Order: sequence, then C-alpha cells, then structure tokens
Amino acid sequence: MSVILVTGGAGFIGSNFILSELRRRDDVRIVNLDCLTYAGNPMNLAGLRGDSRYLFIHGNIGDGCWLRNLFERYRPEAVVNFAAETHVDRSILGPEPFVRTNVMGTCCLLEEARCYWESLPASGRKAFRFLHISTDEVYGSLKLDSPPFTEENPFAPNSPYSASKAAADHFVRAYGHTYGLPTLTTNCSNNYGPRQFPEKMIPLMILNALEGKALPVYGDGRNVRDWLFVEDHCDALHRVLTHGRPGETYNIGGHCEKTNLEVVTTICRMLDAIRPKAPRVPHESLITFVEDRPGHDLRYAIDSSKIEREVGWTPKETFETGLERTIRWYIENPAWVAAARSGDYHVWIKRQYAAQ
Ligand code: NAD
Ligand code: DAU
Repeated sequence: MSVILVTGGAGFIGSNFILSELRRRDDVRIVNLDCLTYAGNPMNLAGLRGDSRYLFIHGNIGDGCWLRNLFERYRPEAVVNFAAETHVDRSILGPEPFVRTNVMGTCCLLEEARCYWESLPASGRKAFRFLHISTDEVYGSLKLDSPPFTEENPFAPNSPYSASKAAADHFVRAYGHTYGLPTLTTNCSNNYGPRQFPEKMIPLMILNALEGKALPVYGDGRNVRDWLFVEDHCDALHRVLTHGRPGETYNIGGHCEKTNLEVVTTICRMLDAIRPKAPRVPHESLITFVEDRPGHDLRYAIDSSKIEREVGWTPKETFETGLERTIRWYIENPAWVAAARSGDYHVWIKRQYAAQ
C-alpha cells in the first residue's frame, strides 16, 4: 500500500480527489489532514466510513510538531496540498487568515516534508512527490483579446487571495530548486461540481434560484472565467502525480471560457426545464446586478497544451453536462446543503450582500 498525505481533503476539490483516487486504485491509503474551517465538511467523505484505506486527521498544516509526527507515523510517498483559504471576497474583507494558511502554512508543510524526505533512503527520495495545488489567479487578469495563460506568464496577483497563493507557489519552487525536493505545482482555472461550498458563484446561484432569491451578478457580468469540471481536474492531478516531471508546473483549464452572465443564464434555463413550476419562472427574472468586487479580475483563461502534451490529459465533461450534474447534485443533497449553511454561512451572506 502506498500512502498519500492529502491536506485540505475535507473541502471541495480535495474530497473529490480522495473519492476519485480511491475509486481508481486499491493499492493506496489516504491520510487526510484537515483543520475543518467553515469550508471543510466531513460529510463530503461520509461514504468512506469503514473503508480501511481512508483515515481522517483533524489538524493544521501550520503545526510543525503535529506534521513531524504524522510524517514519521504514516511515511507517505506523496503529499497533495489542497489546504487553503480560497474565497477571494473573504480575502478582500480580511487577508490575515490567507497569509497564515496559504503562505505560512504551506511553508511549514514544505519544511516538514523536506526534513522527512531527507531522512528517506535514496529510492524513497526519488519516488517522493510534493504536489501543490494552485490557481490561475496568480497570473493576474487578461484582456479580452489576450492569449490564455501559459506556464511562462509572469505572476501578477491582484487580490490578497491570489497574492497569498503566488507566495506559496514561489516557496514550492524554491524548495524544489534549493533542496531538490521533488515538487510539482498545478495552476488550474475555476472548478465547479458537487460539494463546492455555496459561497462560490455557481452553487450560490443554483441554491438562490431554487429558493426564488436574487441572483447577485457583480458589475456588468462580463467577467470571464474558464470553467473546469472538478472530476476532470482530479483526473489531471492524478496524471501529474504519476507522470509529471519534478520541478515543473502545469496549467489545467477546461477549454470553457464563459462570462458570468452566460453562466448564470445557463443555470436559469436548466432550472426552468428541471423545475418548470417554480414560483419565479423564468429564473432569469431573479438576476440582479450588484456592486462590483473591488479589483475584480476581468478574465482568466488557461492554455493547457503543456499538460496535454506531457501527461496526455484533456477535459472530458462539457459545460452543459457538467452543469446539469452539478445542479442535480445540489437538488438531491439537501442535508449536505443544510450542513454547509449551518455555520457562519448566514453571517457571511448578510455581510457580503446586505447592501445590495
Ligand atoms: P475549499 O475552500 O473548498 O477547501 C479548503 C480545505 O482546506 C477545507 O477543507 C479547509 O478546512 C482546509 N483548510 C484550510 N486551512 C487549513 C489549514 N491551515 N490546515 C489544514 N486544512 C486547512 O477549497 P477548494 O475549492 O477545494 O480548493 C482547494 C485548493 O485548490 C486550494 O488550494 C485552492 O487555492 C485551489 N484552487 C481552487 C479552485 C476552485 O475553483 N475551487 C481553482 C484553482 C485552485
Ligand atoms: O480561478 C480560480 C479561482 O476560482 C480559485 O483560485 C478560487 O479559489 C475560487 O474561489 C475561484 O475564484 P473566483 O473569484 O473566480 O470564484 P467565485 O466563484 O467567487 O466567482 C466567480 C466569478 O463570479 C467572479 O468573476 C466573481 C463573480 N461572482 C461571484 C459571486 C460569489 C458574482 O458575480 N456574484 C457572486 O455572488
């Protein structure tokens, strides 16, 4: 059995990754270290209860002592780091937790991984991987007619969130370059799919529309994101982990650029078909333009040719099929939705949207 230490695996992408890895192979054990912030939800992995290949550990990537024990006890062959504060709007209201987890937490995890890795025999050192999950936002914002981001684009982060992720990416690079730690970094575009915390745009719009609430589109709704179905992302991560070249970074995108308004109107049309008797049909009548996000990046788009060429990955899901699967998942999982909204969710929604 090889052991993978996943951090932040109770969140959206991490939980989908754990589920997909355990579906894919029997010869792996996953140790999931997560401190369960508001975005971490143990229900995401409830289906693994009783599965001896999965172990949850409640802990923080910023706690070096804890990490040291964990490395010694479980002796992982790989670390896959999803743990982060991830919501841009929250980073604008308060950057400090982003610095603490995304920068200092990642540094602490890197340092403990390095100490452990240096203690391994040569064959273990060669096989070990530190896969760091990052974002396209580190590259800044594109004009509407600029070519998509490649791995060569200089970093130009614009929000406290993306600045903290860029700092973490630099540390990962430095650990690879200075110490030879076999690092891999992926920079992906906007994910969507089951289990995404409903403060992010797609689940927020789905749940608000189902409840006949306003659909708050920031600014004029013309900002563009490149949407990637989460299972396609997990597939890409598996391939990078098994076939990526240490020291390299890989961009991952969905070949799916859409304006926010296109995304919201597509959700509305799908809901009109799924729920034709909803009180507010057409659902588009719920769209409300609200004050723009400060410093709102205009456009992200990913050039995925390197990952396609080097590890043979391409996204499989179309936006229409992926979005319909996502909508149906939120309709079919009311207990998950209630749990996700049971913490400080209402406080956040009131704070963020009260003025609108
Ligand atoms: P998420 O907010 O859903 O989950 C983050 C998880 O990390 C939660 O389970 C949380 O409890 C955990 N966590 C936070 N701080 C921690 C700490 N100090 N120690 C241990 N655990 C901690 O995030 P997500 O959307 O699943 O994103 C996962 C990763 O992918 C992040 O690094 C994010 O920057 C990156 N990313 C996300 C997207 C996206 O569209 N969601 C796109 C690009 C990159
Ligand atoms: O690009 C990758 C990034 O995608 C990840 O690194 C982040 O962790 C992830 O949160 C996401 O960031 P965005 O800011 O792009 O995602 P969000 O879902 O918050 O917003 C998507 C777009 O929708 C963005 O242009 C802002 C807009 N928006 C968002 C919300 C919450 C609205 O118009 N209304 C809203 O209420």
